[in-house]
Amino acid sequence: MMLSFKQVLVGSLTTFIAVVQAKTAAEWKELSIYQVLTDRFATTNLTAPECFIRNYCGGTWKGLERKLDYIQNMGFDAVWISPVIHNIDMDTTWGYAYHGYWGDDPYTLNEHFGTAADLKSLSDALHSRGMSLMVDVVINHFASNTLPQDVDYSLYPAPFNTPDAFHQACPIDFSNQSSIEDCWLVTEPAPALVDLKNEDEVILDALIKSVVDLVETYNIDGIRLDTARHVPKPSLTKFQQQVGVFVTGEALNDSVPYVAQYQGPLDSAINYPLWYALVDSFMGRTTFDFLESVVKSEQATFSDAHALTNFLDNQDQPRFASYLGDGNGDDVLRDENGATFLFFVTGIPIIYYGFEQRFDGGYDPINRETMWTSGYNTSAPLYSYITRLNAIRKYAASIAGNEVFYSEDTVFLGSGVNHMAMQRGPLVIVVTNVGEHIADSDYTVNGSQFSAGDSLTDLVSCDKVKVGTGGTFTSPSNGGKARIWIKSEYGWKFCF
Ligand SMILES: *[C@@H]1O[C@H](CO)[C@@H](O)[C@H](O)[C@H]1NC(C)=O
Ligand SMILES: *[C@@H]1O[C@H](CO)[C@@H](O)[C@H](O)[C@H]1NC(C)=O
Ligand SMILES: *[C@@H]1O[C@H](CO)[C@@H](O)[C@H](O)[C@H]1NC(C)=O
Ligand SMILES: *[C@@H]1O[C@H](CO)[C@@H](O)[C@H](O)[C@H]1NC(C)=O
Ligand SMILES: *[C@@H]1O[C@H](CO)[C@@H](O)[C@H](O)[C@H]1NC(C)=O
Repeated sequence: MMLSFKQVLVGSLTTFIAVVQAKTAAEWKELSIYQVLTDRFATTNLTAPECFIRNYCGGTWKGLERKLDYIQNMGFDAVWISPVIHNIDMDTTWGYAYHGYWGDDPYTLNEHFGTAADLKSLSDALHSRGMSLMVDVVINHFASNTLPQDVDYSLYPAPFNTPDAFHQACPIDFSNQSSIEDCWLVTEPAPALVDLKNEDEVILDALIKSVVDLVETYNIDGIRLDTARHVPKPSLTKFQQQVGVFVTGEALNDSVPYVAQYQGPLDSAINYPLWYALVDSFMGRTTFDFLESVVKSEQATFSDAHALTNFLDNQDQPRFASYLGDGNGDDVLRDENGATFLFFVTGIPIIYYGFEQRFDGGYDPINRETMWTSGYNTSAPLYSYITRLNAIRKYAASIAGNEVFYSEDTVFLGSGVNHMAMQRGPLVIVVTNVGEHIADSDYTVNGSQFSAGDSLTDLVSCDKVKVGTGGTFTSPSNGGKARIWIKSEYGWKFCF
């Protein structure tokens, strides 16, 4: 265990409040995030090794640093990387801990991804580009490649080197919130995920201190907190206060009121209720009314829905391109429409690495492909499309004013079986789920912010339409593509 400057200076807990130029929730709301599994993104010397999907594949922080142009040129402001701390390091029933969620020492880095200097260098490189670093952190559990009863606690660093630092293995009762916090599912066969006693002040403070130290040492701007629903809320509140940077917590559930309980204790939550609804709507399993109702419910229920982190897929869920979409096959138009929705609905957009290369892996681990097989092709259609969405989002915010754009709720102008129209800032966005296989139809938008006689330009196709009375206009079918309408006087930036 390395004793850092902060850990030696043990005093009052206020000592550990991060003093770096931490990014607040207000600042994060204006960003867009690119999510990376470090092991899968880029190797140090940018070679493209073949590997078994459950082994370490060779991605490093240095490799990621070398590919930052690829990410920044798509318009992203921030990169979320998988956990950086030391993990159990052996082959298990489920393979190696390449994903980083099987920590066993929060004071040491995972040497598979590089050195402390490499991680510092990545952070500096991001900051010198004006970008931000989000790091994935787990305080709910450690891992052990044993059955629960065989865990050798002495292998963990103090104060975690005793069974007293952990709960007893117990079955989770998912209907009982207290039980969820007290337990973690014991995987059988090994490895076991051993549940830390987050309600114990000594254990909690030690965990917080390890994260504060990480934040300060590597100038981390934000944290994604794993398995937050299994940590008691008072402990989350203390964690948020002490780490001093934006935290978005993972509470995997489809219920808006359930996940909304985690904003308050934490700045933000990973927007799982929205994810369930958007997959259903864009794959044609439900009408868009459902998605509209979820967003409205979030805007009414969360203390600040604009701070939620929104996504189409991630390391735990099947990739968006893996769904067949109402039996008509998968297609890139659904991906484009889903991404268009993601960039303009209330909240912070996250794109999981490889979406732009149309990776289509299903359930874990095949949704964790190595990025290098794509050749980082910047001519890929979705690479260009995402680049445009990032640019349009910033442009729309600059027209509306950032303070307005990033705090004004999405307004819905209509939603049906195959289309949805929403208004945000100077834009009216029309998305559809027809994909390539169903004939698209025109969609009439009523009650928009536009005035009779206005000329509108679609920033995707550069097509133009005229507005009638009451802000009504027809958004003509574009063969299943999304439309992003703006008054034509603003269209020059993308259409000339
Ligand atoms: C790239 O790095 C790997 C891992 O360190 C090494 O095995 C390989 O020889 C290197 N290849 C080149 C071309 O430098
Ligand atoms: C919920 O779980 C807690 C902790 O395991 C337990 O003390 C409590 O009795 C449970 N409540 C119910 C209603 O089962
Ligand atoms: C959400 O949580 C509730 C209450 O714990 C549970 O009944 C439900 O199954 C959960 N939903 C999902 C999708 O996990
Ligand atoms: C990159 O993608 C473009 C567009 O799909 C394709 O035409 C081109 O062949 C790809 N380049 C490589 C090196 O695969
Ligand atoms: C808009 O109004 C037209 C004409 O009244 C109607 O046919 C259409 O369904 C309306 N569209 C929506 C989204 O409400």
